[in-house]
Amino acid sequence: MVLVTGGAGYIGSHTCIALHEAGFDFVVFDNLSNASQESLFRVQKIIDRPISFVQGDIRDKEALRSVFTQYDIDAVIHFAGLKAVGESVQQPLEYYDNNINGTIVLCQVMQEFGCKNMVFSSSATVYGDPHTTPIKEDFPLSATNPYGRTKLFIEEILRDIFVSDTSWNIVLLRYFNPVGAHKSGLIGEDPNGIPNNLMPFIAQTAVKKRDYLSVFGDDYDTVDGTGVRDYIHVVDLAFGHVKALEKISNIKEVLTVNLGTGKGYSVLEMVRAFEKASGKDVPYQIAPRRSGDVAKCFADPSYAFETLGWSAQKGIQEMCEDSWRWQSQNPNGYAKD
Ligand code: NAD
Ligand code: UD1
Repeated sequence: MVLVTGGAGYIGSHTCIALHEAGFDFVVFDNLSNASQESLFRVQKIIDRPISFVQGDIRDKEALRSVFTQYDIDAVIHFAGLKAVGESVQQPLEYYDNNINGTIVLCQVMQEFGCKNMVFSSSATVYGDPHTTPIKEDFPLSATNPYGRTKLFIEEILRDIFVSDTSWNIVLLRYFNPVGAHKSGLIGEDPNGIPNNLMPFIAQTAVKKRDYLSVFGDDYDTVDGTGVRDYIHVVDLAFGHVKALEKISNIKEVLTVNLGTGKGYSVLEMVRAFEKASGKDVPYQIAPRRSGDVAKCFADPSYAFETLGWSAQKGIQEMCEDSWRWQSQNPNGYAKD
C-alpha cells in the first residue's frame, strides 16, 4: 500500500490515477489546505472505484500513526506542502513549519513503522539561477526564497537520514513546470485567487476570467526576450512517480532525478500554442520583469531515462489542449457553481 501525502492536490490527484493504472493500491492523506475533496471524487469517477482518503495534517504525529496502523504502508509519495513563492516570502515560518517540520514528523513515523521507501516532490527551483542550460542534476544548488529553501533543506534532511541508515530508499524528483490536465477534463490545476503561474493565468484569460496576461519581461537573452521554461504534462509527471516506485526497493541511495522534457518554450510561444489549441484569443501586455525570475530554465532529462526508464511523451500542443479542456469545462475549478 502506498501513502500519498497531498494526494488531493494538482499533481497528487493525477498520480492517484497513474498508481491505479499501474496496479498500486494507495491511501491519500491530505489536510485539504490547498485542495478540495471534489478532486478525489472525480478521481473515483475516472478510475471507477472508491479510494481511501484520510483528512489530516502531516505535522500531526498521532494522525499519521493511526494511518500507518490501519494500513500496511510500504512506500510514501510525499507531495504535501505549501508551494506559493510570494506567500512564502510573507509567511516564512508557516512554510518552514508546514514543509520542513511536516516532513520531519512524516519521516519519524515512517521510521517508527519500518517504512523506509520515500519519493519526494522537489523542484527545479533548487537550481536557483542556473549558470547554463540544459540543467543536470549535479549543478550547484541554491535558493532565493523561503519556498525554495524548504525544498533544499528537505533534500538535505533526506540525504542525512540515508547516511544514518542506508536501508532507506529515497528518490528526489525535481519537477520542472507541471501543466496540463487529465484527458477527461474532470481534474486539473485549481489555484486559489489570482494564479501565480503562467499556464493557469493563460487559461483563465482565454476563458475571459482575466482581461489580459502580463508578460513579465521581454528583454531576457532568449529567443524572443520572454522567459523560457520546461513545461511538462502532469500526466507524464505522474507516471514518473510510478516508475520511481517500481524501482524503489533496489535503489539503495538517494536518487536525484530531473523530471522535465528537455525542451524550453518562451512565454509568447506558450501564448501562441494555447491560442491554437483553444481557438481563443489570449490578449497580453508586456510588464516589468518579476523579481526572482530567471531567463531560462530547462532540464537535461537523460538521467531520468537512464535510471528510471522514464521520459516525457506529451508535447506542448497536448499540454495546451488538455489545460483548455479542464479550464473550459470547469471555469471555476472544483467550486460548485
Ligand atoms: P497542491 O497545492 O495542489 O498540492 C499539495 C497538497 O498538499 C494539497 O492538496 C494540500 O492540501 C496538501 N497539504 C499541504 N500541506 C499539508 C499538510 N501539512 N498536511 C497534509 N496535507 C497538506 O500542489 P501541487 O502542484 O500538486 O504540488 C505538489 C508538490 O509538488 C508540492 O510539494 C510542491 O511544492 C511540489 N512542486 C510543485 C510544482 C508545481 O509547479 N506545481 C513544481 C515543483 C514542485
Ligand atoms: C515559479 C516559481 C518556482 C516554482 C515554479 C513551479 C517564482 C519566482 N518561481 O517558477 O519557484 O518552482 O513556479 O511552480 O514564482 N509569467 C508571465 N506572466 C504571468 C506568470 C508567469 O509572464 O502571469 C512568466 C514568468 O516570468 C516565467 C514563465 O512565465 O518566465 C513561467 O512562470 P511560472 O509559471 O510562474 O513558473 P516559474 O517562473 O518557472
